[in-house]
Amino acid sequence: MKVTRKRNKPSRRAEPELAPVEIRLMNLGDMEAAFELGLKLFTAEKLPTLYRSWDEHELMQLFHTDEETCLVAVAGERLVGFALGRVMDKPRSAWRYGWLEWLGVEPRYKRSGVATRLLNHLTNLFIERNARIMLVDTDEANHSALAFFRRQGFGQDIRHVYLSLNLENHPKYIEKKADELEADEWDE
Ligand SMILES: CC(C)(COP(=O)(O)OP(=O)(O)OC[C@H]1O[C@@H](n2cnc3c(N)ncnc32)[C@H](O)[C@@H]1OP(=O)(O)O)[C@@H](O)C(=O)NCCC(=O)NCCS
Repeated sequence: MKVTRKRNKPSRRAEPELAPVEIRLMNLGDMEAAFELGLKLFTAEKLPTLYRSWDEHELMQLFHTDEETCLVAVAGERLVGFALGRVMDKPRSAWRYGWLEWLGVEPRYKRSGVATRLLNHLTNLFIERNARIMLVDTDEANHSALAFFRRQGFGQDIRHVYLSLNLENHPKYIEKKADELEADEWDE
């Protein structure tokens, strides 16, 4: 299927047509491009919580433990989206959860159904692995993602609050910095 960009207003300048998009399992060779796309999407200004936890280690770890539920969207050679999930078992519980941890689509490809296709594929993979509930989470201010998830039928919101503490004022932190300074002075 060819993915075409939707437009609200007709424009005189023809936009270049988007290349067809294929959804497939992620492989090691996709890692760098997926990481770069995440850096572009999860910015400190727009999505501070996601920005904080998106790093190469997180991506590598998820891929190593849950390779079978990590998907990418590719247009030719180019990675244009990802959906990274994991299946979770609660000890002593009959419930098995499929958690979509990371979802992202290259800006040029937004609103052309790429995330919907990624989500549909991932849902199938979760069901094949006997998940009974699917979970997603995101910043409260991430309106586009919330609109997307609601459109896909997600609801029953539970609010979760992140709090932070500046450790630079902690006595242990101050002591550590003073020790490091002293060590540097000895080295000079
Ligand atoms: C959220 C995101 C993944 C959606 O990807 P997408 O490929 O554009 O989504 P789709 O094209 O499949 O959208 C399907 C429907 O979701 C809704 N939707 C998607 N983006 C929307 C937006 N910005 N505003 C309002 N509704 C939106 C619409 O109903 C849309 O259908 P329509 O285009 O026919 O109106 C994408 O915007 C993104 O990468 N955001 C940054 C990363 C992020 O926030 N990830 C989620 C948390 S990890």
